[in-house]
Amino acid sequence: MINFVFLLVCLPITVLTFECENKPDGVYDAGCKSFIKCEDGKGEGFECDEHTVYNAVIQACDDPKNVAAPCGNMINCSDKPDGHYPDLDQRCHSYYTCNGGSFFGHNFCPTGLVYHQEIEVCDYPHSVPKPCGLLDP
Ligand SMILES: *[C@@H]1O[C@H](CO)[C@@H](O)[C@H](O)[C@H]1NC(C)=O
Repeated sequence: MINFVFLLVCLPITVLTFECENKPDGVYDAGCKSFIKCEDGKGEGFECDEHTVYNAVIQACDDPKNVAAPCGNMINCSDKPDGHYPDLDQRCHSYYTCNGGSFFGHNFCPTGLVYHQEIEVCDYPHSVPKPCGLLDP
């Protein structure tokens, strides 16, 4: 019984076989705070700790000051209501999260989509008001 419990604890944080199927071995970012390492079609997920973000150049967690925007761009959320906000400097292909005055990092929209703040999803640019999308406000 003790051995069984020990085995469970020793498994990788997450085994993400699906994410790695048909992908070459390598490291894939999964937002600014985590990444997936694929090997032989099997994946292992890694979370960066509180004060670091994923740096695609070195394929590891790093100090935000070494990482390009948006991931390295820490936002001061102290005056912002809880919610998600588009990264205007990334033409809204990513967005960031504030909660309780704390910054919860950036996330990317799927390719070709931009962040639609009113309905809080990534959406087609032709459905999203300016400045993120193409609709006249
Ligand atoms: C964030 O903004 C607030 C209010 O403008 C300011 O008092 C605080 O020092 C800022 N924090 C950082 C880490 O810049």
